[in-house]
Amino acid sequence: MDLKADTQRMEKIVSLCKRRGFIFQSSEIYGGLNGCWDYGPLGVELKRNLKNYWWRVTVHERDDVVGMDGSILMNRAVWKASGHEDTFSDPMVDCRSCKARLRADQVIERKDVQQCPNCGGKDLTEPRPFNLMFKTYVGATEDESSVTYLRPETAQSIFVQFKNILEVSRKKLPFGIAQIGKAFRNEINPRNFTFRSREFEQMELEYFCRAEEGMKLLDYWLEERLKFYENIGISRDRLHVKTVSDEERAFYSKGTYDVEYDFPFGRQELEGVAYRTDYDLLQHQKASGKSLEYFDEETKQRFVPHVVEPSAGVDRTVLALICEAYSTDEAPDEKGKMETRLVLRFHPRMAPIKCGIFPLLKNNDQLVAKAQEIVGLLRADMNVFYDESGAIGRRYRRQDEIGTPFGVTVDFETLGEKNDALTDTVTLRERDSMKQERVKINDLADMLISRIS
Ligand code: GAP
Repeated sequence: MDLKADTQRMEKIVSLCKRRGFIFQSSEIYGGLNGCWDYGPLGVELKRNLKNYWWRVTVHERDDVVGMDGSILMNRAVWKASGHEDTFSDPMVDCRSCKARLRADQVIERKDVQQCPNCGGKDLTEPRPFNLMFKTYVGATEDESSVTYLRPETAQSIFVQFKNILEVSRKKLPFGIAQIGKAFRNEINPRNFTFRSREFEQMELEYFCRAEEGMKLLDYWLEERLKFYENIGISRDRLHVKTVSDEERAFYSKGTYDVEYDFPFGRQELEGVAYRTDYDLLQHQKASGKSLEYFDEETKQRFVPHVVEPSAGVDRTVLALICEAYSTDEAPDEKGKMETRLVLRFHPRMAPIKCGIFPLLKNNDQLVAKAQEIVGLLRADMNVFYDESGAIGRRYRRQDEIGTPFGVTVDFETLGEKNDALTDTVTLRERDSMKQERVKINDLADMLISRIS
């Protein structure tokens, strides 16, 4: 696709997200707040489905991983020890002509002369570090003694709780601690919709191991993570693995992969899978004076474990899911005339609403009662949506546009008015193929559960 088509595609996605209630600008009625977003009724369902599935495969379906939920505010000492207070920064340049503040890598260089990309000015300051952490004060006094930061990653609370969790879970190496939660970065240049935000969520796993297992587990986790993306409906063709070079890698990491996705605005990082060695635990052990060692009962040795970290962004993955799902095709309208159909082809596992339930006519009490009965039957197991307004084809389209994989229609055959054999059966329509089959109401729940789980 060309650049213009990709830009248009992204614009349509952003507009659909607002129109159908996936994502809104934060504080919109006050002009918004750059880099912050609110998830609407459908967005929150999509996000929850993603987080729940990550939790299921990372924690519940494994014996070697436990979860935690840490606080966003932590003792400032954590950020000193981790290195974030001193080094979590982007180099910034100010343009003295138009007063723009730019990330140093955004400055244009022409014939060895550096220029402002905004105004073309050449009067630029030297690059200076700008810390990306949001500073705040804990308690009533606003002075140096009360300073801390909103966490820029969830990982550090896992490291500082390592010993407690090791003791209570009684896990043996290798084992992991998983967490999903908010992180905050005062990004200089939030952009590409939710892709680079100032407030976002991460799904992080710190998988502790022996030093000699680190590199092998790095490759193992990369494969697990690629499988995960495929299992939520992201095509392998649009996923790419970048081996982060020695120069780009954090100095303590022995190996890092970036999992990238072909967004309409270019190939960008979805997740980092990094072998962080024993750096974090050693830093916290040194700074706190508390042992963060593991005791190996077989060898009777004590040592600080190494760690492999798959760290994924919730919001970026939600955006990738929407970009991946967005498509159009041709379908007949009520009168059989072909029209363009907008359809979000979400994997049923991720779809915000799993099944639309429609009585053929809204002014027929029996049809409505039967449809409501089906709502009651399915509701405990999945998110369903009841819709009785408008022509049935229009109702299907409205669900196609938000990615609902299944639609159930209650008609006169359901009531047994045409053929006794069809009493208590409904039509089940599948979103992508638009194929319809006749299904017994009693079989519906099992049938749908097997397709959405
Ligand atoms: N604990 C490691 C860590 O935080 P990172 O590569 O800085 O590593 C991990 O972040 C993931 O968090 C990224 O791959 C991305 O998905 C997400 N992420 C980071 N910064 C983000 C931002 N400003 N907006 C949205 N997601 C972000």
